[in-house]
Amino acid sequence: MSKDIILTGLRANNEFTLGNYLGAIKPMLDLSKKAGEYQINMFLPDLHTITVEVDYNTLYSHIIHCLKQYVAAGLDISNQDIFIYRQSYIPAHSELAWIIECFTGFGEASRMVEFKDKSNQIGTDRVSAGLFNYPMLMAADILLYGAKWVPVGDDQRQHIELTRTIADRFNKKFGDIFVVPEETKNQAKFAGLESPLRIRSLRNPDKKMSKSINDPNGTILLTDKPEEAAKKVISATTDSVGKINFNWEKQPGISNLIQILALISDSSIQEVTQQWAGQSSYGNLKSAVASAVSEELSKVQSNLLNVDDNELMAKLQASEQAMETVASAQLLKVQQAVGLRPKL
Ligand code: TYM
Repeated sequence: MSKDIILTGLRANNEFTLGNYLGAIKPMLDLSKKAGEYQINMFLPDLHTITVEVDYNTLYSHIIHCLKQYVAAGLDISNQDIFIYRQSYIPAHSELAWIIECFTGFGEASRMVEFKDKSNQIGTDRVSAGLFNYPMLMAADILLYGAKWVPVGDDQRQHIELTRTIADRFNKKFGDIFVVPEETKNQAKFAGLESPLRIRSLRNPDKKMSKSINDPNGTILLTDKPEEAAKKVISATTDSVGKINFNWEKQPGISNLIQILALISDSSIQEVTQQWAGQSSYGNLKSAVASAVSEELSKVQSNLLNVDDNELMAKLQASEQAMETVASAQLLKVQQAVGLRPKL
């Protein structure tokens, strides 16, 4: 029997943030230790990357840099059950996305909060049609490989639900076409979490930490100098309550720090909260988080220097070849179902 698939991807827009790292990369890499039992697909959605304006001159080398970050963070590319690939190298992604778009309501796609937020930020004339279509391309990324498990942060929850709806719709109309990914609450549990993660900005803890929002002091990048990252933590916005509690409503800044510390130290929120509960000095908690973050960044940054470019390129090519075969077979199944190819 074929193995259940765990799949995720991160766009190559700017450097990865601590939010990307703790919300998606680390949970994925923790799960990738189960390779052997599961197949791991960790890909780079480069077509999603160009849904917003990027530096087109440096994009190609930045994509390679981001793939190296996967390896630096701990992806074991020598493992035969682990696949690492670029979306645009496998044309079936765009082909299936188009078919899916034809089976998705305009209103249904218009309800995606990520799109609404971004189009409000940059205006409907400047927002690309690609950004509007991006959840359907994401559904194709998942459904092409029959991925059951898709570890993502909280901001992607709605897109996973849309993927499930689309998969169900096809299955009802055409028979058994797609594996329906698990519900998001089960996804989080599978990754050992209570719910999908949302790491907040250190400056505006009511908002998520984001690589696309200009918030340099609230955002830690994986490439930040460890001592600069530590400074950002030390000057994080907190509150005037004067006691450490885990409470997103009343103390979002402190709760964010507790969450970051728990994730980096592989402890539960409860354990970290218990350790710090009731203490009145925020300074000690900030110092503990600052050193945990800077140590984690140092580790990833020194690993990055040791990633073997030739080994990575060889793995990419082998994975892309293997995934091309899987994806084309799945695409053909869909093309046959909707009448674009003869049924054999
Ligand atoms: P992207 O590139 O915006 O983000 C990559 C991953 O990082 C998570 N993330 C966060 N998690 C916690 N706290 C934060 N502050 C935070 N910021 C970002 C995101 O939830 C995501 O998991 N559409 C996707 C990429 C994609 C994809 C896919 C993912 C394309 N196809 C198929 C999974 C499966 C995106 O733009 O993520």
